[in-house]
Amino acid sequence: FQSGVLAGQRVVITAGPTREPLDPVRYISNHSSGKMGYALARAAVEAGASVDLISGPVALSAPDRVKLHRIGTAQEMLEASLGLLHNCDIFIGCAAVADYRPADAAVQKIKKSADEVSLQLVKNPDVLARVAGHSPKPFSVGFAAETEKLREHALGKLERKGLNMIVANDVSDSRIGFNSENNAALLLWRDDAGVREREVEQCSKDVLAAVVIAQIASLKG
Ligand code: C5P
Repeated sequence: FQSGVLAGQRVVITAGPTREPLDPVRYISNHSSGKMGYALARAAVEAGASVDLISGPVALSAPDRVKLHRIGTAQEMLEASLGLLHNCDIFIGCAAVADYRPADAAVQKIKKSADEVSLQLVKNPDVLARVAGHSPKPFSVGFAAETEKLREHALGKLERKGLNMIVANDVSDSRIGFNSENNAALLLWRDDAGVREREVEQCSKDVLAAVVIAQIASLKG
């Protein structure tokens, strides 16, 4: 991995889960550890980039030489992302953004009463799609965790979200992906010849991060 391949480039990365409040003491979230996003931030710094990391709540410490922005909700992640776009060449959406949030977060703690309650959820904004739809658009990279039809579903996201590259991984395999130390992935992008791909065998998240950063550098030219 060549150092300096991203010298002078400004990289923004989202990482970790988001937390969507139900009331002042409860929230909806997911098991994302943030490890992949933090590994990408370190790899981008090593490649010479200046890096902003927008992170949901995780148990990781801030990587050296990275500007860390801590956020809670998807809406806060969107605002932080849009706020950094004037200064962004490459945007990597690695966060596990909650797809839905409670329709109204209660101001006071919800009291126990009925035996059954139902929760109304509304869709969160797609942070990465909003960034990739922005003009001028940074080189936009997404992640796709799939349990089936890996290539097909990931290509759908590449197109729908208007991305330059997508990193797809098969989360039905418990040895890799979500919360594990290791990862394997299929990198997909399009050029004049059509869909191109690069397969990355099972490896540590640090190694995968270095491969993803090297591929971004080579596609950006
Ligand atoms: O559509 P799906 O959630 O599978 O797409 C995953 C990709 O989109 C990831 O790169 C993730 O960070 C990004 N995403 C986002 N905002 C959302 C949902 C997903 O930025 N609300």
